[in-house]
Amino acid sequence: EMHRDLYGKHVLVTAGPTHEPIDPVRYIANRSSGKQGFAIAAAAAAAGARVTLVAGPVNLETPQGVDRVDVESAREMLAAVEAALPADVAIMVAAVADWRAADAADQKIKKDGSGEVPPLALAENPDILATLAKSPQRPGLLVGFAAETENVVAHASAKRERKDADWIVANDVSGDVMGGDANTVHIVTKAGTTSLETMPKARVAAALIDRIADEIA
Ligand code: C5P
Repeated sequence: EMHRDLYGKHVLVTAGPTHEPIDPVRYIANRSSGKQGFAIAAAAAAAGARVTLVAGPVNLETPQGVDRVDVESAREMLAAVEAALPADVAIMVAAVADWRAADAADQKIKKDGSGEVPPLALAENPDILATLAKSPQRPGLLVGFAAETENVVAHASAKRERKDADWIVANDVSGDVMGGDANTVHIVTKAGTTSLETMPKARVAAALIDRIADEIA
């Protein structure tokens, strides 16, 4: 059976980590694999949407029918997201680095043998989800993710309000989620919370896209 529930809709997805340069050969990163975001982009395309996937550095193949834009840093991700607007739905799955090196060096920082360590000052990155929420081109349905290890739904619910997202998908990362193939999520909306069983990331993606199609139909 062919599902075309999102035909004619533009769905924007962010996925993966970001890399924040310290100098030309070093960066700050995190353990996000990008698997859940890529699965969501694939599910949206399978539902008939036009999909823009803004991806941080990951080792994954582009899903069929998806327009992929590769970026490295949070600021590049924000620029690519803004360039992709307008969107009917935006699903921000990326694990964006909270901080970047305040002054990335143009040349490799040298170890000079003196034993002195270079300082590493950090600067706060833009919050892409919160920026979209305030944008004049705010997507019709704005969905964020929240990786939590405890009080998963309560924290996600607070995050939904703080960032002015429509939904937050609360991700229970107390187990072996990062890089793994299964996920346990709760879809937190203004109206309430739907908890899904632990299931493969592809099935989480399909369930979320079904729910989105119902919402915007
Ligand atoms: O606050 P926290 O990082 O847990 O929020 C997670 C949600 O916000 C995710 O949807 C993530 O993609 C998004 N986010 C973002 N830009 C940031 C930080 C988080 O879009 N700089």
